[in-house]
Amino acid sequence: MKFFIDTANLDQIREAQNLGVLDGVTTNPSLMAKEGITGRKNILQHYIDICDIVDGDVSAEVIAVDFEGMVNEGEELAALHSQIVVKLPMIKEGIKAAKYFSDKGIRTNVTLVFSAGQALLAAKAGATYVSPFIGRLDDISTDGLGLIAEIRQIYDNYGYETQILAASVRHTMHVIDCAKIGADVMTGPLSSIEGLLKHPLTDIGLAKFLEDYKKGN
Ligand code: G3P
Repeated sequence: MKFFIDTANLDQIREAQNLGVLDGVTTNPSLMAKEGITGRKNILQHYIDICDIVDGDVSAEVIAVDFEGMVNEGEELAALHSQIVVKLPMIKEGIKAAKYFSDKGIRTNVTLVFSAGQALLAAKAGATYVSPFIGRLDDISTDGLGLIAEIRQIYDNYGYETQILAASVRHTMHVIDCAKIGADVMTGPLSSIEGLLKHPLTDIGLAKFLEDYKKGN
């Protein structure tokens, strides 16, 4: 299972990269705005800065909602760096753009996916990744993990190669449950990755080992 970090914060990206388990980064316009990155030039430079920190895929989202605009923006983003994956919204024009980019060998991530039908369309359009937002479904009393399981089954039935990128992951149990279901990738905050480290018995056990070592040395 690949681990992506869902942030535009360079310090957090560096921290996850230094842990040695990071496979990529996802961003969106809200995450960029949260870091105060505004203006086309600064946004493009920020994507390059992220690519310089990590080894894996970096999703960069288009703002246009029409096919031509998405194609222009997506081509500009893809040309920035070989690690860039063009992130497209799950709307009719986004699906057309996913097919266009897939035919050109440009990788895509279809985002804002909330149903199995949407995920099926993204796979048929040849998307590299599909991003179902599990946390936002949970927020409205709908089973986010259930959607991951449905998509897994559908993709496996037909051998679709589109990778299921479980997004809007909020905590460690989302990560673990996604791994059990067989999501290909999860993207979440740094806390959802670092939280996996924690177990009180590990801390107690280590303290005892060190104490016993000190007694004999
Ligand atoms: O990857 C999607 C993500 O950015 C949305 O997460 O926590 O805003 O629902 P959240």
